[in-house]
Amino acid sequence: MSIVNSSSLTAFNSNHELYDKVRPGFDRNKKFLTEFIFDQCLTRGEACNVLELAAGTGKFTKAFLEAVQMRNREVNVTAVDPSQGMLESFQKNIEVGRNVAVYQGSSYSIPLPDNSVDCVIVAQGFHWFADSSSLAEIHRVLNKKTGRLALIWNFDAASAAQKIPNANTKVHISYGDDKVRLYGKIYAETVKELEFNGLIDSSDRVFKLVEMLVGKLTSWDLLATHVYRYDHAVPQYRHGEWRRCMENQNFFDADRAIESFDMGIDSMPKELVFPYWLSRSYITNLSDPEKQAVEKWMSESISKFPMQHLSADGQFVNRFLSTHTYVVPVKNIS
Ligand SMILES: C[S@@+](CC[C@H](N)C(=O)[O-])C[C@H]1O[C@@H](n2cnc3c(N)ncnc32)[C@H](O)[C@@H]1O
Repeated sequence: MSIVNSSSLTAFNSNHELYDKVRPGFDRNKKFLTEFIFDQCLTRGEACNVLELAAGTGKFTKAFLEAVQMRNREVNVTAVDPSQGMLESFQKNIEVGRNVAVYQGSSYSIPLPDNSVDCVIVAQGFHWFADSSSLAEIHRVLNKKTGRLALIWNFDAASAAQKIPNANTKVHISYGDDKVRLYGKIYAETVKELEFNGLIDSSDRVFKLVEMLVGKLTSWDLLATHVYRYDHAVPQYRHGEWRRCMENQNFFDADRAIESFDMGIDSMPKELVFPYWLSRSYITNLSDPEKQAVEKWMSESISKFPMQHLSADGQFVNRFLSTHTYVVPVKNIS
C-alpha cells in the first residue's frame, strides 16, 4: 500500500500553528468558490455527503460550511487528514458535531464505505497524492452516478499548473477585484492576439494571462522564484504533475473537466512575508542556517521593491493571490 509523503508529515506536524496563522484561506472568494463548487458538484437537490480530503487546519472547511449555511443546504462534511498536528488545529477551528465529522486517514485509506459520498474536495493538497492508488481510493468512496472530484488551490505565481493540455477542458475566468479586472481584460485581448498569430499555443492561454498580471501588479514573483529553488524534491501544485496524473488515469473523465481561475491580489504586512514562506513544507524542513539566509535575502529584496508594488504607507507588499479549481466527474467503471 502507498504511504503518505514523509516531507509532508514532518512539515505539517510541526508547522500547523504557523500554517494556520499565515496561509490564505478561502474567505476572499467564498462567493465564487462556493457557487462554482455548488453548481458543479452538489447538483443533487437533497442532502449531500462531502468528503474533504487533506482538510488540514480547516481553512477550506470554514468557508465551505459558511456557504452551506448561506445556501440553506443540507450537507454533511467528513474531513480527513493524516497529520496529527493539522488535525489538532482543525479541532480548534471547526466545531465538529451534527454535520461535521473528522478522522485521521489519508488518500490511501479513507475511513468511509464504498459509494458513500457525492463529492470529494481537496483544497491545496492533491499534489501530495496525485497517483493512481489515491484516485482508486477516492473513486471507491464516490457515488458512481453523479460523483465529482474537486481540486482547489490558491496560487501566487505563473506556473506549469496553469497550462491546460486537454483541448476539451472548459475554462472559466473571473476577476476578484477592479484593478485585476481592468488589466485582466486588456491582457486577455493581448493573449487572444498572440494565440491568433500563432505565437502561443492555446494550452498556454491562462498561463500567459497570469504571467502578465503577476508582472504588472506585483514584485512577488521575485520572492517566489528565489524560494522555489528549494521545492524540487517535493510535489507541488506549480510543478503540474497532478495534471499528468489526471490526464493518465481511468477513474475520472478528464475530457469533461471544468476549470476556473478567480484572479485576485491582496496585500501582506511586510513582517509576515517570511513567515508565510516559512510555512511552506520545503522551507519548514530546511536547516536553521538555510532558513536564516532566505529570511535575510527576502528582507533585503523587499526593501528594494518599487513603490507601486507596496501600500501607500510602504508597510504592505502586494501579492498576486488567485484560486484555481479543477472539477471532474467520476467514471462508472466496474
Ligand atoms: C497544504 S495543506 C492543505 C490543508 C488545507 N486543505 C488548506 O487548504 O489549508 C496539505 C495537507 O495535505 C495533507 N496530506 C498530505 N498527504 C496526504 C494524503 N496522502 N492524503 C490526505 N491528505 C494528505 C497534509 O497532511 C496537509 O494537511
